[in-house]
Amino acid sequence: MVTRDVRVYPDVEALSRAAADNLATALNAVLARSGSASLVLSGGSTPRTLYRVLATAYGEAIRWDRVRVYWGDERYVPPDDPRSNYRMVREALLDHMSIPAENVHPMPTDLPDPEAAALAYEQTLRRQFQGAWPRFDLILLGLGTDGHTASLFAGSPALDEPARWVTVSRAPAESSVRLTLTLPVINHAARVDFLVTGAEKAPALGRVLHEGSNAAGGPAAGVRPLRGTVTWWIDEAAASGVNAVTGA
Ligand code: 6PG
Repeated sequence: MVTRDVRVYPDVEALSRAAADNLATALNAVLARSGSASLVLSGGSTPRTLYRVLATAYGEAIRWDRVRVYWGDERYVPPDDPRSNYRMVREALLDHMSIPAENVHPMPTDLPDPEAAALAYEQTLRRQFQGAWPRFDLILLGLGTDGHTASLFAGSPALDEPARWVTVSRAPAESSVRLTLTLPVINHAARVDFLVTGAEKAPALGRVLHEGSNAAGGPAAGVRPLRGTVTWWIDEAAASGVNAVTGA
């Protein structure tokens, strides 16, 4: 059974500070237990504040040399492209703290064929995780106004992928393709944290939290870790109309 936890904060700053503190505690617990930790970072604009808080206040409080970071999705653009999730995370977080380059695993976007890049990333994950499915310690995700998460869009074959760990996906009305982790990978995580802010997200958030099924709730409703927790970090604007439990 999935344990779900919804936490509401006045704004993105308060939400990000609370999420950063909680993330640090969780990662440090994993590090104390097993010596290393795996963290999947999300793109989009919402987590920028969290990354800034982590970079400024948690550079020393987390043993980043023992944390392996991955990406949940990526636009198939060069790493210095303004649309690159790698670039966003590098600029907001990684450039501001000390983490060994070998711990940082961006999705490759330099192969001629995006399919080959998806396979290459899957191989990277398979080398890191021995076992049937990777069990990430923590996956950060966002929510689109259309209900997508990572690059899993309604109606896309990527959303129904049962076996691959990483696949090629296409956002509606976008010319470049994307790479994304698949739902089975996300659903094998120990913990998933969604960050959602802004009134424009309220309808999509309401659908995910209330409909509780993949079809009606949208792609993000498919995030139901088998043996993991889901925490929703949301601001009051996104929470409007959502009957959430205040955890702040
Ligand atoms: C991306 C992510 C996407 C994102 C949501 C929310 O855009 O890189 O794939 O899933 O997390 O679209 O984005 P915002 O945080 O910008 O609203």
